[in-house]
Amino acid sequence: MLQGKFVVLGVTGSIAAYKAAELVRLLKKAGAEVHVVMTSSAREFVTPLTFQVLSGNPVVTDMFEKPVRWEVEHVSLADRADLFLIAPATANIIAKMAAGIADDMLTSSVLATRAKVLVVPAMNVNMYLNPITQENLSYLKEKGFYVMEPDEGPLACGYSGKGRFPEPEKILKFIEKLVGVSRDLNNKKILITAGPTREPIDPVRFISNRSSGKMGYALAEAAVERGGEVILISGPTSLQPPPGLYKYIRINTALEMREKVLEYYGWCDVVIKAAAVSDFRPKNYVEHKIKKGDSASMFLELEKNPDILRELGERKQKQFLVGFAAETDEIEENAVEKLRKKNLDLIVVNDVTAEGAGFDVDTNIVKIYYKNGSAEEIPKMTKKELAHVILDRVVNLLKN
Ligand SMILES: Cc1cc2nc3c(=O)[nH]c(=O)nc-3n(C[C@H](O)[C@H](O)[C@H](O)COP(=O)(O)O)c2cc1C
Repeated sequence: MLQGKFVVLGVTGSIAAYKAAELVRLLKKAGAEVHVVMTSSAREFVTPLTFQVLSGNPVVTDMFEKPVRWEVEHVSLADRADLFLIAPATANIIAKMAAGIADDMLTSSVLATRAKVLVVPAMNVNMYLNPITQENLSYLKEKGFYVMEPDEGPLACGYSGKGRFPEPEKILKFIEKLVGVSRDLNNKKILITAGPTREPIDPVRFISNRSSGKMGYALAEAAVERGGEVILISGPTSLQPPPGLYKYIRINTALEMREKVLEYYGWCDVVIKAAAVSDFRPKNYVEHKIKKGDSASMFLELEKNPDILRELGERKQKQFLVGFAAETDEIEENAVEKLRKKNLDLIVVNDVTAEGAGFDVDTNIVKIYYKNGSAEEIPKMTKKELAHVILDRVVNLLKN
């Protein structure tokens, strides 16, 4: 999987530094060319010689080492990297990276690279859960860095909890996925919608639905991994936006969703509407909290929200349109009708009543219907895997 890939491995001053030696061995075995950069703290734990022998390359440690090679090294390693890996990553290096500090060879190189950077934290559970470390990690993710969650379990410091350096085999699998994904959406502009909408009744109440946003967020993450320039327009969810988005826009109501989608429609090549937009909204928003009163029932009048997907279908020029449908009955008829009526290129349909499909679960079971009348059943898989399957189909159809 990693044949010919140039991997720079930054090793920092964690007790888990010795495990990076096994990681180097595995990376080499998978065909990668590995260059190790160590911080001075890391050298207190493992000698550079270990990494030199295992990687077959000189280990870079000091910026101002004689003979002076740093001006070549810190930029050339950064430039040549297909993947920049920091494993184990201390709380210290994570904080330095988040602050843009470049006071040694590793921090300078990582600041200079345009390669994907994968950070594998390893530390005491309290250091890991400290809000400062968590904020630094969130910030790095926001800026497009990849972060692999540490394992939970007994730690070298005697504590037990989250912070364990994952087994090198597990890290290798993560890397293979990260590097192996093809960049077939390079230069493609993709707009993805996700999550539910909220239609306010009064200042404290709203109408919404059970959409978690997981499918749309998985699609956005997968599209970024494949090189797409991605705008994610999201209703209220508890999810973190994936790293590397071109734009992340939060909305509440269907009308706000419509406004944002139309604003960017001209910009994009592909639109994937995975959001569960409310069909109706309360006709009259009440400015103050509605009192319970004495009546045993109440009347709430609803009016129809605009059908955004249909509008996109009508205004379609170059755009490739993907719709989603969550159906509970007459699945095929409804899907085909929606595909035709809304001028879609394909529609992904899930039977939300099936186990392992639909709202708020991490897996999905869908059927894809195409404009040419064909259909394809996709077996149960994670939403992230399904996101890649859908994008595979989009990429293929864009070629024709
Ligand atoms: C025995 C020992 C073990 C340590 N293990 C860790 C660790 O696992 N994770 C961590 O973030 N810091 C750990 N530290 C603290 C770091 O080594 C320290 O913050 C150092 O400044 C990190 O420098 P660096 O990020 O430049 O490598 C450890 C320190 C000692 C003395």
